[in-house]
Amino acid sequence: SSPLRLGIAGLGTVGIGVVKIVQKRAELLAARSGRDITITAVSARDKMKNRDADLSAYRWETDPMAIAQADDVDVYVELVGGDSGIAKDSIEAALRSGKDVVTANKALLAKHGQELAQLAESLGRVIRFEAAVAGGIPVIKTMTESLAGNEIQRVMGVMNGTCNYILTRMESAGLPYETVFEEARQLGYLEADPTLDVGGIDAGHKLAILSSIAFGTQVDFDNVEIEGIERVSIDDINRAADMGYRIKLLGVAQMTGRGLEQRMSPCLVPADSPLGQLNGGTNMVIVEGDSVGQIVLRGAGAGEGPTASAVMSDIVEVARGLRMPVFGQPAVGLTAAQPARTAVP
Ligand code: NDP
Ligand code: HSE
Repeated sequence: SSPLRLGIAGLGTVGIGVVKIVQKRAELLAARSGRDITITAVSARDKMKNRDADLSAYRWETDPMAIAQADDVDVYVELVGGDSGIAKDSIEAALRSGKDVVTANKALLAKHGQELAQLAESLGRVIRFEAAVAGGIPVIKTMTESLAGNEIQRVMGVMNGTCNYILTRMESAGLPYETVFEEARQLGYLEADPTLDVGGIDAGHKLAILSSIAFGTQVDFDNVEIEGIERVSIDDINRAADMGYRIKLLGVAQMTGRGLEQRMSPCLVPADSPLGQLNGGTNMVIVEGDSVGQIVLRGAGAGEGPTASAVMSDIVEVARGLRMPVFGQPAVGLTAAQPARTAVP
């Protein structure tokens, strides 16, 4: 069959990671997809920047819109970032011009995921976003595919590697929050706006996306109760350790009698539990299903290879022709207060 032609907007950490996998694993990807996967066009702001990949075979566009609307692109891969602006506009343009969309943009999906999913569905297109939650950990496909026979009862986890790094380092080196925050900044771990990390907002975005998938509800970031790690002190960490606990920025989403409960906050976890043994920038997501029991997924939540790995899983899924919507798959046991899905009449 005909090749699947990608247009990649954004050639930063993740975009270049995707280019490298497409180039390095062409045969494997073709075997797994049943068709070749090729890149037609790429986009970033600065054409002169050295990007550690050979891009000479691809058409260069400075404006992502030119890729989103190109006739020779089947899948628009949005890796620009930002919760609105060009990321959102270009995704909408791509869907309207008949393309499927793959993105890693958690901030955009937490804010506009529902409307983008509805637009995609109304146009008969798909939007996929495995990389948006916990980077390389395949949690979305685990829930939608591998646990398809389960009612999901609870989803929880550590979904921001930077916060986990800061808390772990405070604990192991006995350093105050402010010192470790500065270290994290120098190591390049922090988002451009660090409040997204340490304020728990980035992790809250991820939890909102996950809980919508787990419970078949609307993406509802505004109702995630969020507390960041800025006020966690060395004393708190030491007192927790004395009692056999560690402090983690933990997200929990569960359906209660009052509807969906979503919390992202510093929590005590037993030091000998899987969450209590999580160190550094690693992420962990725990999913509880009625038949399967508890599943623990652990891995890299960020970085070139892990994040690009997740993006590729979406691209291969599109190449295979799997077209079920991800947001709003009907969940079992929904309450009336939490109407399911993106249904388009
Ligand atoms: P980067 O900042 O490394 O790269 C962003 C890219 O987008 C750059 O190539 C930049 O161009 C381009 N760009 C930015 N603004 C524009 C614009 N207005 N017009 C055209 N191009 C533009 O981001 P990442 O690769 O780290 O992240 C990409 C997405 O993946 C984000 O949504 C992020 O949240 C998400 N993500 C990232 C993870 C990670 O580990 N990095 C993990 C999980 C998700 P130029 O290079 O010329 O400046
Ligand atoms: N700032 C995020 C983190 C990047 O630290 O986990 C990956 O989403």
